Amino acid sequence: MKKKIYITRKLPSVVIEKLANDFDIYMWQEEEQAVPRDVLLEQVKTADGVLTMLTETIDTEVLDAAPNLKVISNMAVGYNNIEVDEATKRGILVANTPGVLTETTADLTFALLMATARRLVEASGYLREGKWETWSPLQLTGMDIHGATIGIIGFGRIGQAVARRAKGFNMDILYYNRSRKIEAEEEMGATYADFETVLKKSDFVCLLLPYSPEVHHLISKNELSLMKKTAVLINTARGGIVDEEALYQALKNKEIWAAGLDVFEKEPVDLDHPLLTLPNVVTLPHIGSASIATRINMAQLAADNLRNALLQAGPVMKVNKPDGW
Ligand code: NAP
Ligand code: GLV
Ligand code: GLV
Repeated sequence: MKKKIYITRKLPSVVIEKLANDFDIYMWQEEEQAVPRDVLLEQVKTADGVLTMLTETIDTEVLDAAPNLKVISNMAVGYNNIEVDEATKRGILVANTPGVLTETTADLTFALLMATARRLVEASGYLREGKWETWSPLQLTGMDIHGATIGIIGFGRIGQAVARRAKGFNMDILYYNRSRKIEAEEEMGATYADFETVLKKSDFVCLLLPYSPEVHHLISKNELSLMKKTAVLINTARGGIVDEEALYQALKNKEIWAAGLDVFEKEPVDLDHPLLTLPNVVTLPHIGSASIATRINMAQLAADNLRNALLQAGPVMKVNKPDGW
């Protein structure tokens, strides 16, 4: 009998077709809407494997509802939507999609940095709203990117890929990470500094570390007060790393200059969120990895991880190492 897999979002048919020989596939058929919680809880009852999005919270309630579950394959590199320790206790393997999205997410991080520094969204609105009456010397002036100091907090795959781009812009590169990255320091001339020094010295502070409870609100009132008044904060990691209320106050009171946010504590962010009222905030709907090629590669890698783990048929990008795996 074929094993049953549940896929929590409609994925491209090229990806699904490859799984069809080996598995009984059940799939939430919407592309733009997340699976309702009650449907997820019902579907996992009989599933051997789940291919999930970062929009699904895979917690003890889901795990308790899924007695046959052996593998959870996340279509994302971040896996803070999954209670990994609970999965490990139950002997469930968790997999993710590192690497295939590194360059695409670094591109978006740099695009957001540039858009925020040079006020692109505001400037576009200015034109379309009919405010552009003449060219003028200080109109819509922003911050220079070339030659500025970038401080990257979380210097892993994506953080280092952002640093490579920064090098091309002749930026000074500082980084903070829990472990030193000596090779990367040499390759791109990056300098390690402690957390506070990175905050104090950087013109652009970029967050690229995974979310975990220990980094909840890592950037809050005190940290924002250490940053330059002219500094720009860029968050393409996870919303929970930044205290949004403190960020709002800091931006409103001009304690920092601007922020570019691809991620929010609650997604989708509420439309009446105070941060959305500020002209010096560029907001994106979590599109870091959203190129056509990369999203297909992520879906394919998530499918390969699930298949290879359930059939013990090849490499798996493992997040945990439960007994028996
Ligand atoms: P990665 O290669 O694992 O890099 C993460 C880095 O953060 C590692 O170097 C790690 O240090 C460091 N780190 C972890 N916890 C830390 C802590 N408490 N303090 C200081 N440093 C810490 O991961 P990645 O592939 O670059 O992805 C990074 C994150 O980006 C993901 O977890 C995800 O949340 C986010 N992301 C967002 C998007 C988007 O669409 N916006 C897309 C992709 C990824 P060690 O090297 O010492 O382990
Ligand atoms: C996206 O946010 C990811 O973690 O892949
Ligand atoms: C601006 O367009 C310039 O020519 O300086």
